[in-house]
Amino acid sequence: MRKNILLIGGSHGIGFEIALKLYNDHNVFIASRTSENLGNLEVTHIPYDASKDEIETSTLPERIDGFVYCPGSINLKSFETLTPDIFEEDMQINFMFLIKIIHTLLPKLKNSEQASLVFFSTVAVKIGMPFHTSIAAAKGAIEGFARALAAEYAPQFRVNVIAPSLTDTPLSKKLLGNHKKKELMDNRHPMKRVGQAEDVANIARFLLSDDSSWITGQVIGVDGGMSTLNVN
Ligand SMILES: NC(=O)c1ccc[n+]([C@@H]2O[C@H](COP(=O)([O-])OP(=O)(O)OC[C@H]3O[C@@H](n4cnc5c(N)ncnc54)[C@H](OP(=O)(O)O)[C@@H]3O)[C@@H](O)[C@H]2O)c1
Repeated sequence: MRKNILLIGGSHGIGFEIALKLYNDHNVFIASRTSENLGNLEVTHIPYDASKDEIETSTLPERIDGFVYCPGSINLKSFETLTPDIFEEDMQINFMFLIKIIHTLLPKLKNSEQASLVFFSTVAVKIGMPFHTSIAAAKGAIEGFARALAAEYAPQFRVNVIAPSLTDTPLSKKLLGNHKKKELMDNRHPMKRVGQAEDVANIARFLLSDDSSWITGQVIGVDGGMSTLNVN
């Protein structure tokens, strides 16, 4: 079946890779601030800033079968320098705006036979990492929310979370800015490389498809072995 899939974010990074994998077989809607990177990709772009706008629901179909929320942040600093304002900002972009848009979209998600919702966490929720207090807190909220939402709406919705480790996208460019940094980060992973957007998009595509119709309430690590293996 050709599904209606809405990506919040999808103009670049992991979301864009998801769009590339889906647009041939599904109707893909991308809501984001920019669209230049989309070129002639056969998707519907909806101008949208999660921090300011209500999404224009009239541009969306009555039924949404797949939903992915991509906006996120990486503020890696010591707890001492992470002010409460930064915690609040991280909580807003990663979590609160997600809650807001799901509320808005509930009627359209309910029109699907079984909607699949995919959110992003981080490996730093499962394993404690220094300088990650703010992002780990914001993504931890997503994991708890996702499980509870999955329970409340089963079997009508499936809700799953992908928890990546460092993945090469515009969001992480500061951390991978030169060869030395990249090599260091590659070597921290048991699989000896950081992730590519495609590594993560492959799992998102699976979670949005009927092939995963018995999977809900899960947090899936896509992390080169980072969260479970100690090989050093
Ligand atoms: N990359 C990593 O290393 C990594 C690691 C762990 C977890 N994650 C998580 O994975 C998710 C995707 O990450 P990514 O690396 O693909 O991020 P990215 O490269 O920054 O892409 C984020 C997408 O979200 C959109 N977006 C951002 N702010 C928005 C806003 N206010 N309103 C509407 N759209 C907005 C961006 O589009 P516009 O700029 O056009 O609005 C873009 O399409 C994030 O939640 C991130 O926290 C990433």
